[in-house]
Amino acid sequence: MTSVIAAYFHRARLGLELLPVRKDLSEAAHFLYLMNGEVPSKEAEKTLDIAYILHAEHGFNASTFTARVVASTLSDMYSAISAAIGALKGPLHGGANEGVIHMLEEIGTPDKVDAWVEEALAQKKKIMGIGHRVYKVLDPRAPHLREMAVQLTAQLGESKWIQMSERIAEIMRERKSLNANVDFYSATVYYSLGIPTDLFTPIFAIARMSGWTAHVLEQWSENRLFRPLSAYVGRPYGQKVVPIDER
Ligand SMILES: CC(C)(COP(=O)(O)OP(=O)(O)OC[C@H]1O[C@@H](n2cnc3c(N)ncnc32)[C@H](O)[C@@H]1OP(=O)(O)O)[C@@H](O)C(=O)NCCC(=O)NCCS
Repeated sequence: MTSVIAAYFHRARLGLELLPVRKDLSEAAHFLYLMNGEVPSKEAEKTLDIAYILHAEHGFNASTFTARVVASTLSDMYSAISAAIGALKGPLHGGANEGVIHMLEEIGTPDKVDAWVEEALAQKKKIMGIGHRVYKVLDPRAPHLREMAVQLTAQLGESKWIQMSERIAEIMRERKSLNANVDFYSATVYYSLGIPTDLFTPIFAIARMSGWTAHVLEQWSENRLFRPLSAYVGRPYGQKVVPIDER
């Protein structure tokens, strides 16, 4: 259902007819069909299907945690999932895949990568698609997406995207001991499938929906309100308040 919303949104903004849903296609093929108006090739279907699997909800990532916190207040499913989508959209979470394409477009050509990355690091900017809160060695999903990105860009004869990505990943490994994450190569995969950049993160949400909703149901099955305590690390207790006119 989430894929229908995303595909219809895209067609509606282009002023195109909203196609009736079909039951004879896989989830991946159905999304591409509803978005483009034609049944995709077996290869495109398989690529998106693998991307869905690799992006599936796992662990207690920020959006899953958000969904559970909202569910724990006994709010409704729609609110819990809207909140999860809001968390996923952020560039440090699922929004990073769009950020990768914007970064590659901004860099422009492979010969500009080194200078661009050095400048970004000097300015303490985050390089999108690099690093992970949990996977400090290698995100196990990244090599699979890299392989798909290499094949797709070779078929399209657009190897500059993968060349630039490989060099960015190499510099980040050498300079910061950080590796590519799931978003790094998925950006090139989606781009090569002809998916508009602003649908990259919605695709991530499609892949996470079953996991999020399962978490919400699990939360409700044995609910207790989330209420973390915060540790006070401000000024020491016992300070005197200086009256405003004496400051
Ligand atoms: C995912 C992320 C938020 C994890 O943050 P984190 O766990 O706090 O990061 P780490 O503890 O591994 O960071 C170690 C160092 O590398 C830096 N670093 C981490 N990710 C970086 C990145 N993508 N670009 C540049 N520097 C980065 C940190 O600033 C820190 O530097 P410092 O030691 O000089 O302070 C972070 O890596 C990031 O912002 N990545 C880019 C966004 C992204 O791709 N998100 C999708 C994640 S699946």
